[in-house]
Amino acid sequence: MACAYQTHYCTYIRVPRLLTLQTPQSDAERLLITAFQWHELWLKVLLTDARAALADAGATFETTKLLRRGIALFKLLNMQLAFDESVLVRELQVGKTLRVWRGRYFSEQLAQLTRLSRRLRQLTRAAYPGLAETLAEYAAHLTAFRTRFQSFAKATFIPKKSHAPSYSEWLCLRELLSLQDGVKAAWTELGYAPTTLAAPEHISADESMFIIVHQCFELWFKVMLDHIDRAIPLITAGAISDATRLLRRVVDIQRLLVQQIQIPATMLPLDFARFRDERQARDGKVFQRGLSPASGTESYQFREIEIVCGLRDDPVFRKYLDGTEKLPIRLLTPRQTERLQQPTLLDAFQSAVSQRGIAKLDDLFTPANIPNPNADLAQLADTLIELDEQFRFWRLTHVSMVEKMIGGKSGTGFLGPEYLMETAGIKLQEKNRVFEDKQVRPRFFEELWQLRTRLGTY
Ligand code: HEM
Repeated sequence: MACAYQTHYCTYIRVPRLLTLQTPQSDAERLLITAFQWHELWLKVLLTDARAALADAGATFETTKLLRRGIALFKLLNMQLAFDESVLVRELQVGKTLRVWRGRYFSEQLAQLTRLSRRLRQLTRAAYPGLAETLAEYAAHLTAFRTRFQSFAKATFIPKKSHAPSYSEWLCLRELLSLQDGVKAAWTELGYAPTTLAAPEHISADESMFIIVHQCFELWFKVMLDHIDRAIPLITAGAISDATRLLRRVVDIQRLLVQQIQIPATMLPLDFARFRDERQARDGKVFQRGLSPASGTESYQFREIEIVCGLRDDPVFRKYLDGTEKLPIRLLTPRQTERLQQPTLLDAFQSAVSQRGIAKLDDLFTPANIPNPNADLAQLADTLIELDEQFRFWRLTHVSMVEKMIGGKSGTGFLGPEYLMETAGIKLQEKNRVFEDKQVRPRFFEELWQLRTRLGTY
């Protein structure tokens, strides 16, 4: 960043503080805390939106828009609950061996949302087109979600008296739900660098959602990195099936993130423009305040995932991390520099293949009904392909959502949608290039993809 007072992604969404709010006793508990914190963050969006919808009371499209976002969120929350139930309850025995909080009440936000939803139902009297159907759908989704979420949450509750923390203490809820103020540069005359940060202030329902969606990503990025970091030494030590189990969870999380990246498009482009680039005219001068240069580009955990999966060895990506004078954003942080020295998933897989003495990758696979002496490695390879595939889906879905929101406008991080299309391999950026090299990001496990062409051809 050019100036310390410009808005940085990490301060705007409070990443460093957010990532200290998980203090688990075990790996299973880390997953559980993340799942509940993630649910609570989205419950905050649902609550904020419900209040804003009541304030609008069906007078404009705002009410319908916010309720439609609620419906999209209930679908997302249900997807996460399917993961919670299958991974946490069945695989990690949460509920049987892991019970973590005590007290009678758990989600105060869910209780509040239930109360507000009774008032929302009265809005059916408002005549805005489509509102009545949306309200009915919203209410049905809320009821189904509440039942499922409550039964999952109760499985983690300690019924007897104990010294365990309350639900709210366990999740650091008070602090978690206060990290949405959005620290931005103060009003600054156009063309000048800011000299102070603005004090946190009241923000709109849309901006609150925008901050929370990023926080929800960073929470899961941390879990993904934790799982990949544990899988790498397991693969090198030959514990292939244990590593594959961890990586399958990473793929499940990626599936959730591909759905989650569509949530920002529940705002209208003009709603987004209001807080993305705010401008004011005063005394014949124009002042500006806004997100820029805060951008997902500055998400250091996203870069770490790219590095640790295998992009470490891609020369164009390495040059990209070094940055360029044309880009006032620092891409390579000390954590990433450290990561660049560490083994990647790709290294670990290649070493496991050579430890088994497999000369040609083709020999790793057999049809499903033929016994395979390397079945564990073949399953790992399939999981790596899925991980790569989901990463690609994320890139494609993100750029499509970005285009819906800002069309071809420049991004707050100065790179823009055309750059994103180039990274996803859709098309090369023609105008306003920041980098000379083509920024097409290669797949992490290219050799495994190429093998698919050869398989079955003799
Ligand atoms: C309205 C919502 C969003 C818009 C309009 C948007 C726009 C953009 C744009 C234009 C870029 C290119 C860099 C730049 O010029 O700023 C970018 C990069 C990026 N964004 Fe988003 N974004 C949105 C939401 C998100 C969310 C929720 C995440 C979740 C973490 C995210 C993560 C990223 C990442 C990781 C990059 C870097 C990608 C790369 O370099 O390969 N974005 N975004």
